Amino acid sequence: MTDLDAFITGLPKAELHLHIEGSLEPEQMFAFARRNGVSIPYASVEEVRAAYAFSNLQDFLDIYYAGADVLRTRADFHDLAMAYFDRAAGDGVVHAEIMFDPQTHTDRGIPFEEVIEGLLSAIALAQETHGMTSLLILSFLRHLSEEAAFETLAQAEPWLDRIAAVGLDSSEMGHPPEKFRRVFAAAADKGLRLVAHAGEEGPPDYVYQALDLLRVDRIDHGNRSLEDAALTKRLADEDMTLTVCPLSNLKLCVIDRIEDHPIDRMLALGLKPTVNSDDPAYFGGYVADNYRAIAAARGLDKAALAQLARNSFTGSFLPADAVAAHVARLDEWLAAH
Ligand code: ADE
Ligand code: ZN
Repeated sequence: MTDLDAFITGLPKAELHLHIEGSLEPEQMFAFARRNGVSIPYASVEEVRAAYAFSNLQDFLDIYYAGADVLRTRADFHDLAMAYFDRAAGDGVVHAEIMFDPQTHTDRGIPFEEVIEGLLSAIALAQETHGMTSLLILSFLRHLSEEAAFETLAQAEPWLDRIAAVGLDSSEMGHPPEKFRRVFAAAADKGLRLVAHAGEEGPPDYVYQALDLLRVDRIDHGNRSLEDAALTKRLADEDMTLTVCPLSNLKLCVIDRIEDHPIDRMLALGLKPTVNSDDPAYFGGYVADNYRAIAAARGLDKAALAQLARNSFTGSFLPADAVAAHVARLDEWLAAH
């Protein structure tokens, strides 16, 4: 391991953009399929990995929703999340804010309770075994209706004190944030924080809508904001956290080459990017792999990497005292490394 590899792994960090369904590794897909008696259209792990060649977001989503079909029980959600927490802990993650897509499961007849109770028991175990804190973000599928999002929010009612935020994911083009304006307002009224995928494939206008109509606290991705100078300046002025996902951007053809990634341009423009893995089982790497990929491709130094880690804490939904404690520990760690 090089000095920079060790620095990246050890750097205390938070992960703010992770779809738990996107952490389903092919080996686990087979294991869950076997234990649940579900058939999958692949003969081997190698065949699954070979299918992970995507030209755009929708190519990926089709395979991702099909893969999620092996998730049936509370134990599956627990084991899935625990495997993620174990890997994240090994990558220096001390806090994670993980998204889950209830509709992917409830639409298959899996009760909301099975999904969330499995995730919550893993969250408790990750705290016990790794000292890692985590929060849940309930994401609405934007290719479905706002009415369906309202139904999902109603199903979540008994667990609202265990959910930090709502999000918006799935097929971006043709499903602008404005479609979900009322359900985001309802979620805010219930005290939930708000995030939305915007500007991954969608135009800068979708980022404006996320800010002005949904009133989000964070933008997931946000890459295409850079096409609009006024929007870029506004995001910088508002200190808006962007949860950027470099290997995802490469695999989904948001960029052609990792060398083209705008992470350092974002920093230079005064934006507040963070580094995240999005769907690590599908995109070829967990959070430290993402830091490594941009460090190598864009020549980021330790100071830039430390800034990205700092942003991950200040952009988190932790209370101010916990953020301050994480930043102080990061500074201590940096002084020693
Ligand atoms: N669901 C899981 N990953 C996603 C992504 N990168 N964009 C939109 N929806 C998603
Ligand atoms: Zn995402």
